[in-house]
Amino acid sequence: MEWTREARYRGLSSISNEEFESMSDKVHQSPWRQYFHVQPVSGLLNDPNGFIYFKGQYHLFYQWYPLGPVHGLKYWYHVVSDDLIHFENKGPVVYPDTTYDSHGAYSGSSIQIEDQLYLFYTGNHRTKDWERVPYQIVATLNDAFQVKDKQPLIEGSPQGYTDHFRDPKVWQENGNYYFVIGAQTTAQTGRALIYQGDTTFKFHLLGEIQTGLSDFGYMWECPDLFKLGNKDVLIFCPQGLEADGVKYRNIYQSGYIIGDFDLKTLEMKHDGFVELDHGFDFYAPQTTISKEGERVLIGWMGLPDINYPTDVYNWAHCLTLPRVLKVKENTLIQTVHPDVEKLRVRSNETTMDITNDNTVLDLIQPDRSEINISIVENEADVLSIVFSNQVEEAVKITYDKNTEVFELDRSQSGELPNNQDNQKRSVQLFDALKSLRIFIDTSSIEIFINEGTHVMTSRLFPVEPYQYCQLSSESGTVKMETKQYELKRG
Ligand code: FRU
Repeated sequence: MEWTREARYRGLSSISNEEFESMSDKVHQSPWRQYFHVQPVSGLLNDPNGFIYFKGQYHLFYQWYPLGPVHGLKYWYHVVSDDLIHFENKGPVVYPDTTYDSHGAYSGSSIQIEDQLYLFYTGNHRTKDWERVPYQIVATLNDAFQVKDKQPLIEGSPQGYTDHFRDPKVWQENGNYYFVIGAQTTAQTGRALIYQGDTTFKFHLLGEIQTGLSDFGYMWECPDLFKLGNKDVLIFCPQGLEADGVKYRNIYQSGYIIGDFDLKTLEMKHDGFVELDHGFDFYAPQTTISKEGERVLIGWMGLPDINYPTDVYNWAHCLTLPRVLKVKENTLIQTVHPDVEKLRVRSNETTMDITNDNTVLDLIQPDRSEINISIVENEADVLSIVFSNQVEEAVKITYDKNTEVFELDRSQSGELPNNQDNQKRSVQLFDALKSLRIFIDTSSIEIFINEGTHVMTSRLFPVEPYQYCQLSSESGTVKMETKQYELKRG
């Protein structure tokens, strides 16, 4: 079908339950449904929103367009879990049903005040002439997690900024509420602004976060500002950066600056911008504090403005596994949250020497496994790890010891998203490769390198699951230990 503007702005109320069921049937015919990642029952998922541990459970919401694999009228879809891996679908919570959010309940965050949950988000409104008017809205949820009340807090954007003004991330400090929000100056540069509000939710603009990045993309989406150890971290998604060597290869970027932020002067002293993930499909992450008191991050495993092979089955995208963030030497370290280990069913261990010849391991469970590799000794110039199936589709990982460059090549991995001409992504490691932790689901791979100093996340669309893990080296031997796990459904 053709996704005209009218078609994209049809909401759930315009279709019958039967129509919605026939859409979900189509989704079930898809060979690429995931086992242990949050994915939509139909239509398109994008940013994680409102992520919080509240009254003993994790609540996570995501941007959802129910009727097709396109960006249309957005809802917030709600999932709930006792841990960070067994999420249960609860259905849509925030409907675009007021003037303020008539054209989409866009991204935002949540906060607990006393024993109530409040959602702060951007209402996307379009006038008859299709001019965008962003509203920042607060919504209260009742005990059944239904929206009880919506109040617009801010109409439009402040002077000097365009209507690209969205994605409030809220927090409480010194008896006040604050949010950081993505903005674009009228000179078309991306910024993050900070608002302060009192207990009656009257918010006023404090100003821009003063970073050293005055000309760094035309828009910053989904900012997130938090303390980690004794450092301050600002995560944001700049749009419009030019590719620079192995950096910024995707359509839009997602990364962070780290340093010291002063809420009084809004000055942020920081090191350079660092990408959070070096794979093909990662964007708009959001963090919260876990039950254990750690900072955890979940991202959207997808990007805007790209068509994906699942589109023909009427669904698109999923969320990443949860990651714990730590700071080490002014860098964020991202490791998989230990709750993911609850998915392990059985394991298989091997110790081996890889020489020029291929060593082929059968994957313990082709479409859902964790593969942990530790390199005991590496005398080879190049190590390659290839996951392949019987129809010769393969995803290839290579590590060059001399340059310490790590590469992911999905050019032969199966069907591919459009809009990306180059199907290789690489990252310059800080040190020699010592360990890999790889999670393979039906249509994704997440690679944690050297205990989380770098991560590469990508969707993959093989015709059949990868069954083999081929290990080989060039000019030298690699001694390694591998441990594989079969994983069960999340
Ligand atoms: C990021 C984003 C946000 C916006 C939302 C709309 O992917 O563009 O800036 O709030 O998606 O779905």
